[in-house]
Amino acid sequence: MPQRIDLCSTADVEPGNALKVESGGLTLAVFNLDGEFYVTDDLCTHGPGSLSEGYIDGDVIECNFHNVQFNIKTGEVVAPPCMVPIKTYKTVVENGRVLIETD
Ligand code: FES
Repeated sequence: MPQRIDLCSTADVEPGNALKVESGGLTLAVFNLDGEFYVTDDLCTHGPGSLSEGYIDGDVIECNFHNVQFNIKTGEVVAPPCMVPIKTYKTVVENGRVLIETD
């Protein structure tokens, strides 16, 4: 049975921005890409970088530590140095709230 974790209001994240949210024992980055919401782990797979503080370009997030780039929607690495994808979460918007579903 999937579990739902409430993260934030849709109004908390402006389009083209990200918000760091700690909830359910997870530290996450909530992205608003032109009104569509996506959630990934906040911690870069390469080191201590916080992806919510990185640079967003289209559907790509660039870590502000060593500039690895991930696709926000799939988690795949777009540009090295790191080769480990970032974890993404099934994201639901309901009644103005952003939630994730976990197994
Ligand atoms: S910590 Fe993110 S690229 Fe190195």
